[in-house]
Parts: sequence; structure tokens; C-alpha cells
Amino acid sequence: MFRRCAVLYALFVGFCALSGCGKSDPAETAPKVLYDQHCAKCHAQAGEPGGPPKIGGSKGPNLTKIGAEPNRTADWLAEFIRDPKSKRADAKMPAFGGTLTDEQIRVLAEWLAAKK
Ligand code: HEC
Repeated sequence: MFRRCAVLYALFVGFCALSGCGKSDPAETAPKVLYDQHCAKCHAQAGEPGGPPKIGGSKGPNLTKIGAEPNRTADWLAEFIRDPKSKRADAKMPAFGGTLTDEQIRVLAEWLAAKK
């Protein structure tokens, strides 16, 4: 049992080293994990148009093709995630500047910008 945990731990750390995330937990900078934790409750899942069925649809727009929209660059998206009101005065989406680190926001923004 202990050996098994040790092997899993080694794999985990190995993955972390390979993905270049240094000492931080890989889960915390994996965009899909961040998205599932912080965004999926309002936004459709990637490749899942109506959003998570158990929540009964999403309040936010579908983001599965957000990178194909005009002007939705990684920079724009990062700013929007950090503070939606900086881009749209009447935005209802909560600001994530206080919840996520700059690095996490950047990773999410680049991941979204690549969705075309
Ligand atoms: C509480 C619900 C909610 C959560 C949680 C949420 N959003 Fe949103 N999001 C919205 C709504 C509503 C909009 C539509 C614009 C508005 O009214 O703010 C939106 C719009 C967006 C847009 C589109 C902006 C545009 O005009 O192109 C992006 C990109 C986005 N959200 C990303 C995210 C990301 C990334 C997360 C997780 C870190 C997230 N959202 C979490 C509700 C939410």
C-alpha cells in the first residue's frame, strides 16, 4: 500500500517536473482543472454546448470557440478574467483577480484564446 502511494507520488512529481511547473501543484496551473473549479459552474464545458447537465445549463456564454471571436486575444481574456468590468462596465461575471494568481489567469487566458 505504501509502495503504491510512493509510486503515485513519484509519477505526480515527475509530471510536475516535465510540465515545468516547478514546485507548485500541477493541478493548480492546469487550465482544464482551473476551469472546472472556477468557471464551469457558469460556462459551458469545452465541447459541451449546453454546459454541465447537472447544473442545468450555464449562465455565462459558451466559451468553446472564444478564441475565434474578434479581439479575444490572450491579453484581452486575461484582463477580462481579472476584472470583467474593466472591459465591459455592465459585466455580471465576478472578478477573479483576488481568487486566482496572475499565473493562473494567464494560463486560463492562453488556453481559452487557443479555442478556435
Ligand atoms: C458566476 C458566474 C460566472 C463565473 C463563475 C465565471 N463567469 Fe465568465 N461570464 C459570466 C457571464 C454572465 C458572462 C457574460 C458577460 C457578463 O455579463 O459579465 C461571462 C463572460 C465570460 C467571457 C466572455 C467575454 C467576452 O465578451 O468575450 C469569458 C472569456 C469568461 N467569462 C471567462 C471566464 C473564466 C475563465 C472563468 C473562470 C475563471 C469564468 N468566466 C467564470 C459568468 C461567469
